[in-house]
Amino acid sequence: MKVFYICSEATPFIKTGGLADIAGSLPKELKRKDIDISVVMPLYSKIKYNLEYQLEYIGYYYVDLSFKHIYTGVFKTVHNGVTHYFIDNEDYFNRDGLYGYDDDGERFGYFSKAVTVLFKYLNQKPDIVHTNDWHTALINLFVRDFSRGDSFYSNIKLIYTIHNLKYQGIFPKSLLWFLGLDESYFNEEELKFYDSINLMKCGIVFSDKFNTVSGTYALEVKHEFYGENLEGIIKKYDFKFRGILNGIDTSYWNPVNDKFIYQNYSLKTIDKKSINKLELQKELGLKEDAETPMFTLISRLVSMKGLDLIVRVIDEILQENIQLVVLGTGDRKFEMIFRQLSYRYPDKLRALIKFDEATSHRLYAAADFLLMPSIIEPCGVSQMIAMRYATLPIVRETGGLKDTVVPFNKYDNTGNGFSFENINAHELLFTIKYAISIYKKESFYKLRENAMNTDSSWAKKSG
Ligand code: GLC
Repeated sequence: MKVFYICSEATPFIKTGGLADIAGSLPKELKRKDIDISVVMPLYSKIKYNLEYQLEYIGYYYVDLSFKHIYTGVFKTVHNGVTHYFIDNEDYFNRDGLYGYDDDGERFGYFSKAVTVLFKYLNQKPDIVHTNDWHTALINLFVRDFSRGDSFYSNIKLIYTIHNLKYQGIFPKSLLWFLGLDESYFNEEELKFYDSINLMKCGIVFSDKFNTVSGTYALEVKHEFYGENLEGIIKKYDFKFRGILNGIDTSYWNPVNDKFIYQNYSLKTIDKKSINKLELQKELGLKEDAETPMFTLISRLVSMKGLDLIVRVIDEILQENIQLVVLGTGDRKFEMIFRQLSYRYPDKLRALIKFDEATSHRLYAAADFLLMPSIIEPCGVSQMIAMRYATLPIVRETGGLKDTVVPFNKYDNTGNGFSFENINAHELLFTIKYAISIYKKESFYKLRENAMNTDSSWAKKSG
């Protein structure tokens, strides 16, 4: 079976969020199961000019978009046994960032068409094309559209994964014309969404099966609060919809041999975990004390991740004898708030306003608790990683957080973290205080053990 997995980001090449972790680990796992899978993604300049990746140039072809005849280079490399193809066009992908440009519709529309042409260019007919989020959703439409005139594209099964319904790819109708697609696709049953076209909707409508990344989120998105105005379409296509919980790459996220952390440890040598805390405290100029509970927040700094809840009670949280290390970038508002807090609480809080993979490993290893009170969380990756490192997640019961974190039960010492139900800052505060109250007690050690024993691998997910 030949599978092409198409994504806008994947580790280790480029990452802005959880999608990259999934795109970097699921294909590897499928390959291990002897599935012939290749990944295709844009050749952002950060990948192209990073010599570490040793990309091999394969050739080029042209893609036609309205009046443009666009050079499309193809590069390839094999990573973790999986062939990765990269679509090269510097007009579109030689930029500082990945998304958020005025011409994103054109950029990813082009990419989607280029990928659809790539299958034929490589003369590799896919059995399954697996697309992810709005960036690659148009491939579903192009494959169906091309199949009308070219049997190469017939009988290809299309799987579409929604990683986050919040970002839908909404663009003016003129994008259809630009991409050479018939205007008739602009109708309520297909791409039309109010007065625009909606690529997330396109991905759903033109898929054979679509899924999202946890069972709970799959239920949530059928309701208005989570459905982002697509709940109607999702319900309409419920017969081809499923929630499938993500996994993580447990060989990469492994405190036993993690190269980024100060001190490796396992369940058997878990006492050594505290060396990571002491070293991090030293590095950050915090008081070196293994007894102080350390919290971490490793997140995009946006409202969806529950940052308003944290900010609402942060002064109360910081009355406790704790340390908090924040890592991430996002809305300027939150970046400023955490910077300011680090000035006000110099002995308690550090704000690392950056996106840095190595530092994130060190924080997972050093901290005792991870804060993740998301308002919406389709799956969430950090809580699964934290558990691998015996760092207890404190989460809101939503989406994948609900499906992966089992709240502490003081009667039988079960659970692998802490959770609260409502979007309420004080519920978060009480849960944090509850977590602090068991710190270094017998149940704390049991919970850490349970967390480390939690299987978050892809192998488990696929049975
Ligand atoms: C998105 C979601 C996150 C999920 C990830 C991978 O980033 O917000 O919850 O874990 O995609 O599927």
